[in-house]
Amino acid sequence: MELLEQKILTEGKVLSESVLKVDSFLNHQIDPRLMKQIGEAFAHRFSDAGVTKVLTLESSGIAPAQMTGLSLGVPAIFARKRKSLTLNDGLYSAEVHSFTKNVTNEISVSKEYLSSEDTILILDDFLANGQAAKGLINLVQQSGATLAGVGIIIEKGFQDGGKQLREQGVRVESLATIASLNHHTVTFSKEGAS
Ligand code: G4P
Ligand code: NA
Ligand code: NA
Repeated sequence: MELLEQKILTEGKVLSESVLKVDSFLNHQIDPRLMKQIGEAFAHRFSDAGVTKVLTLESSGIAPAQMTGLSLGVPAIFARKRKSLTLNDGLYSAEVHSFTKNVTNEISVSKEYLSSEDTILILDDFLANGQAAKGLINLVQQSGATLAGVGIIIEKGFQDGGKQLREQGVRVESLATIASLNHHTVTFSKEGAS
């Protein structure tokens, strides 16, 4: 996605060889025009999938999930994060361990909003090790819904998540794929250049 890659190149800050900061348009301040284009891009890529709901994880996934839901004409749900296992009645829950932040969250969605009739498009802002995506897939499986696939805004292709998901047969569509953050420079891989 042209505008997305431009934004990453002009506003992204390479914090290390593995972390890209994009607080000016995605993770803190949000660029609504970019979010609208992102929503349209995901809607286009998954137009043939029969999606009935978009599912993401709070907080940074919410803005793009909402715009994708708008473009597809379906609701957007965000799984909530909590620190500990407490009351689980009425919830689908899964554990998500972040290697980046070294924290384990329990993520959950009310059973009211996911059912076996649904076809779910999972969205997230970043794909690194794939733990968040796997947790969301777990929730979808518990509900008996069909998984249309996973849409990612920025995939870090040098980390393992995308490879693992694709090997499991999950359709993963990333709008920008970063091959490397070495030498304080963002290098995109060909897949993300569309
Ligand atoms: P994984 O799900 O692919 O395994 O990723 P990981 O645990 O490493 O990511 C933990 C958090 O860090 C997630 O946000 C994820 O979006 C974010 N993240 C991972 N790599 C990067 C990166 O290079 N740059 C930025 N800006 N974020 C990254 P979160 O904790 O769920 O926070 P929120 O922003 O959604 O609230
Ligand atoms: Na996220
Ligand atoms: Na994030």
